[in-house]
Amino acid sequence: MLRVGLLTSGGDCQALNATMRGIVKTLYRQSDEPVEVYGFEDGYQGLIYEHYRMMDNRDFSGLLTRGGTVLGTSRTPFKLLDTPEADGINKVEAMKHTYRKLKLDCLFMLGGNGSTKTANRLSEEGLNVIALPKTIDNDTWGTDLTFGFTSSVEVATRCIDEIHTTASSHGRVFVIEIMGHKVGWIPLYAGVAGGADVILIPEIPYDMDNVVRVIEERDKAGSRFTIVVVAEGAISKEEAALSKKEYKKLVAARTTPSVAYDIAAEIDKRTGREIRIAVPGHTQRGGQPDAQDRIFATQCGVEAALGCLEGKFGFMVAQKKGKMTRVPLKEVAGKLKYVDPEGDLVREAKALGISFGDE
Ligand code: F6P
Repeated sequence: MLRVGLLTSGGDCQALNATMRGIVKTLYRQSDEPVEVYGFEDGYQGLIYEHYRMMDNRDFSGLLTRGGTVLGTSRTPFKLLDTPEADGINKVEAMKHTYRKLKLDCLFMLGGNGSTKTANRLSEEGLNVIALPKTIDNDTWGTDLTFGFTSSVEVATRCIDEIHTTASSHGRVFVIEIMGHKVGWIPLYAGVAGGADVILIPEIPYDMDNVVRVIEERDKAGSRFTIVVVAEGAISKEEAALSKKEYKKLVAARTTPSVAYDIAAEIDKRTGREIRIAVPGHTQRGGQPDAQDRIFATQCGVEAALGCLEGKFGFMVAQKKGKMTRVPLKEVAGKLKYVDPEGDLVREAKALGISFGDE
């Protein structure tokens, strides 16, 4: 008997179900032994509290196109891993206990950076763990792509497209805030795909003088409207010069809902232009996975299952230069993958006339 656990951890995305389908279908087809699947509910919480359900091949049918996660998810912050739960339970010991009690051979963990750190810890504690790179943010180190990213870019691009027509009719400046946590992958890709005039990302601190100049130049050229895409983590040159502590204090003291409001207020003050703000928010994590995500999620699921059947653990499935590969969990844990400010897409976008607010 091959006994495996599945859990989805952290913020959801469109391709979690498609990935689990890939794992389970492969195990059922390729395993020489009967397979028992334990689906843990709400991420690591299910493993801590033994909240699971027995699943079989049929539970994964029809999941290729279904967004969200049928298992539910939650965040179990890595930095609180050794802090007991409110009821005094030691999280790591409880997870090890559940794993051993159920006699699991492997735990498949679908999660982003924080969740991968926890997966690495469990692996160091002796559990057989395989991680799969989930996140719309595409910020997982060790893989060129994460599942969720392309679907999210698709939603964000559609939002920019729709804003384009109304911005142009009214001759307005629009500030559109795009998700991505501390990195700028989604805003960069969606900004280019949606024909943004300005893209502000955390990796390239901006100077408001440059942003204002773009708007004024477009006005002079008769363009009437300007689309400013801002990453939720966009940062000005002044903010980038602050210490980590000072910057955290500044963000905590913000009275506006998010960075787009601060940037829009500043543009308003300096240009007097009519401005609107659009924040697609969690729509960027919702709905169906796009075709590329369905394919990549399936590849990740299949490769993870094959690794398990070979008896290989303690790695994350990854894609590098178009090839599927495995990266040791300890190499991935705790590292973020940032946009390279000198990278091809930034360089090409600049050549096209898109401003990143840095010059
Ligand atoms: O990590 C995915 C993500 O959507 C980020 O882009 C965003 O910063 C964060 O999660 C939002 O988290 P929550 O769903 O907890 O509001």
